[in-house]
Amino acid sequence: MSAPNNAYDPVEVAVLAPDEVQQMLDDALRAIAAAADLDQLKAARIAHAGDRSPLALANAEIGALPPAARAEAGRRVGAARAAIRQTLAERQAELEAERDQRVLIDEAVDVTLPWDRSLAGARHPVTTLGERLTDVFVSMGYEVAEGPEVEAEWYNFDALNFPPDHPAREMYDTIFVAGRHGEQHSGVLLRTHTSPVQIRALLTRPLPVYVVSPGKCYRTDTLDATHSPVFQQIECLAVDEGLTMADLRGAISAFVEAMFGPGLQTRLRPDFFPFTEPSADVSMECHVCRGASTRRGGEPCRVCRSQGWIEIAGCGMVNPRMLVACGVDPDRYSGFAFGLGIDRSVLIRNGVTDIRDTFEGDVRFSRAFGMEA
Ligand code: PHE
Repeated sequence: MSAPNNAYDPVEVAVLAPDEVQQMLDDALRAIAAAADLDQLKAARIAHAGDRSPLALANAEIGALPPAARAEAGRRVGAARAAIRQTLAERQAELEAERDQRVLIDEAVDVTLPWDRSLAGARHPVTTLGERLTDVFVSMGYEVAEGPEVEAEWYNFDALNFPPDHPAREMYDTIFVAGRHGEQHSGVLLRTHTSPVQIRALLTRPLPVYVVSPGKCYRTDTLDATHSPVFQQIECLAVDEGLTMADLRGAISAFVEAMFGPGLQTRLRPDFFPFTEPSADVSMECHVCRGASTRRGGEPCRVCRSQGWIEIAGCGMVNPRMLVACGVDPDRYSGFAFGLGIDRSVLIRNGVTDIRDTFEGDVRFSRAFGMEA
């Protein structure tokens, strides 16, 4: 007689009853169908097909059944587990396809959308216009010459033929630099114009001299819409044999046409500067209305205030006294010079009405000029 089958415990193997297995299968299929994404499906897989799932545990009980019942139970559990595997695989494929679709939509890049202007730093319009002005002269064969902003009074005034007590010095509201011991007349100032670079160029360069000098200048002007204590000028100096006022006019016309447009007329009217003789102020025909605002029935023009002309520069033939001061023979050499405001040119050229806009550092101002690298 064989030993009694002690391992058979009807309570433990109740999990193998057909409706129990069916219940486990139904629970599993419901959980798989309810899984809304791959993470939830993974949780359902662990719960219903993992090593600790009810069906896996039931499967482990098969050996405890009487031998005659094992095959039947094994088939039932096996079928349920196969159905779950199959359903899991199908749902997995479905959810992956859904995810791939969503990625295509969520991560799509519309290359036709307008792009944001990069907020990387950009150069200021006064800087870029200064370079353009300089380039005009460089293309005409001039060399760039620079001088210090903290300048000796001698270069700024004396060498430029401003006599010590001459009222012409009053033309410039000068900021003097106090001496080391606080003296007011230290002989050092913040240059009031770029003209001292003329002297520096003549003293250091071999003749003929053709130089262009852009740079910052300072005066005690109070800040308002049209004045600033700091501003930029660009100066042009040519000293050679046989230069005449015709050459000056030619240089000015070439420059105005390059900056403001071809065909613009220029006009010289007598003026006074101690370092040029004769001296003149330069006006150009208004590049916006081209004089139309001055004619009967013409629309008023904001840019030239309906004058038809815009004053842009000071100029003249280099004063022979200045040539002598720099050791240049005035019987052999002559020259011309002119100087103009770069900030002012930005205002004129781009219709900016308030000079303060040019240095308040508001990027909305610079951005309107386009970002030049
Ligand atoms: N330096 C003069 C000014 O600032 C301008 C100028 C330059 C005049 C060159 C004549 C020649 O007013």
